[in-house]
Amino acid sequence: MALLTILFSLLSLLLILVASNIVKSHGMALREATVEDLQLAFKQNRLTSRQLVEFYLREIRRLNPVLKGVIEVNPDALYLADKADQERKAKAPVTHSNLHGIPILVKDNIATKDKLNTTAGSYALLGSIVPRDAGVVTKLRQAGAIILGKASLSEWSHFRSDNAPGGWSARGGQGLNPYNLLARPCGSSSGSAISVAANLAAVSLGTETDGSILCPANLNSVVGIKPTVGLTSRAGVVPISPRQDSVGPICRTVSDAVHVLDAIVGIDQIDIATIEMSKYIPKGGYAQFLRRDGLKGKRIGMVKDPFFDFGNDTFLAQTFELHFKTLRREGGILVDHLKLDNVGEIFSSAAENTALSAEFKISLNAYLKELVTSPVRSLADVIAFNNKSKKEKVKQYGQNLFLTAEATNGMGNAEKAALSSIARLSKNGFEKVMKKNKLDALVAGDPFDILSTPLALGGFPGIIVPAGYKDGVPFGICFGGLRGSEQKLIEIAYAFEQATKIRKPPPLKF
Ligand SMILES: *[C@@H]1O[C@H](CO)[C@@H](O)[C@H](O)[C@H]1NC(C)=O
Ligand SMILES: *[C@@H]1O[C@H](CO)[C@@H](O)[C@H](O)[C@H]1NC(C)=O
Ligand SMILES: *[C@@H]1O[C@H](CO)[C@@H](O)[C@H](O)[C@H]1NC(C)=O
Repeated sequence: MALLTILFSLLSLLLILVASNIVKSHGMALREATVEDLQLAFKQNRLTSRQLVEFYLREIRRLNPVLKGVIEVNPDALYLADKADQERKAKAPVTHSNLHGIPILVKDNIATKDKLNTTAGSYALLGSIVPRDAGVVTKLRQAGAIILGKASLSEWSHFRSDNAPGGWSARGGQGLNPYNLLARPCGSSSGSAISVAANLAAVSLGTETDGSILCPANLNSVVGIKPTVGLTSRAGVVPISPRQDSVGPICRTVSDAVHVLDAIVGIDQIDIATIEMSKYIPKGGYAQFLRRDGLKGKRIGMVKDPFFDFGNDTFLAQTFELHFKTLRREGGILVDHLKLDNVGEIFSSAAENTALSAEFKISLNAYLKELVTSPVRSLADVIAFNNKSKKEKVKQYGQNLFLTAEATNGMGNAEKAALSSIARLSKNGFEKVMKKNKLDALVAGDPFDILSTPLALGGFPGIIVPAGYKDGVPFGICFGGLRGSEQKLIEIAYAFEQATKIRKPPPLKF
């Protein structure tokens, strides 16, 4: 009898241990889980979308008051999760999509026609009603993704004021870098990068005009893809410039980013650039280029000045020497000692700002006019709104970029001259070095985010992958290519990531 009691107690103890282990491993497994991990767990009935959304909502409640990566949570997220779980039970066709039942945060300049506001971080747009989902959101919903909420950003994608810090918006406050709360998170897709880095969502979307995906991905140890301009629809995105704006994924791994890219690329009749650019989308999508041997035979150009100019920083110099070795060992052909003929001009020219100012006024006014209801209908209204604001930081940071843009008057002679300068800078710089040397990509050791400008000028794609940590602050390695070269960039980035596995989750100690 006594023996039975002891056995019974032992058995209970064992059950308790097993149970607590499941809870623990469940929690552990969700942190850093990839889209492929999550799909496998769904398939094996080890996880539901409801459990996954509940996990992220808990983490947002716990961490977001400090990190401020999320500006709004979707009140319908649990309802959408239950719907996804039912679809999975019913084996609905949509469940074949890699994003089915996966919670995604989208930057707050990407319109969603639901209970979420779309404000670009500004009170001026609070209460506005968008006419429809953004083109990329329509595609996300078709793929069965769950819109978990809106990610914070640098207000108006950092086109309001030079003086505002990256990651700040009036509505969202100051987003913080989860690796070091005193380090900058960079922007303008700050919240997207902060949130996936800190496991507040499975995946996210950001937007880039010049550096707004690549820079925050760089500083938050995540992967960012800035697609060729027009590969993804910009319809329903609070714009800066249709010539440079691009919507792309920010995720923890290359494979997650590629699954998101596969879901959002393609034709949207409302953004006609997508019609021509769809010629670049490979049959069967981008996931087939997640190849462990993807670096084999790739010609990768190196322009040491300025892309590997680390001054006297021996740590960065040594780290990137190791990365060059890895790229070579994995079969890459590094083409060294290249230079961009017009490098000084690329970074000093005023042409980009001249063109962007006029394009911003035109395209923002068009966006605001199309809203169903809105407190503001033009850039002039937004400026007047800010002028009246009593908020200390709104006043402190000012709106110099807005005022410059408002002073423009369409695409006049100065703007046309700027556009031809931009075309020339791109042709004689990045394009020339790529073509002359038959490169698949140009690499940048990019702790300072500088490859983004040559890519911005040509509408070219770039991908950034974690490359290390300096004093605890992350930095990445960036690969850029010519229009439509996403598949090669993905092969290179995936092979590098798999060979190095540098990303670590942030050591959140608060
Ligand atoms: C959207 O903004 C309104 C204020 O105009 C607010 O009441 C509402 O809660 C916001 N929506 C979400 C999902 O946070
Ligand atoms: C590196 O250079 C910077 C200025 O360029 C200087 O402030 C710093 O002390 C130098 N560090 C070392 C280790 O030489
Ligand atoms: C807003 O304030 C700026 C000066 O800070 C001024 O130049 C501009 O005319 C004002 N605009 C409106 C619409 O109030």
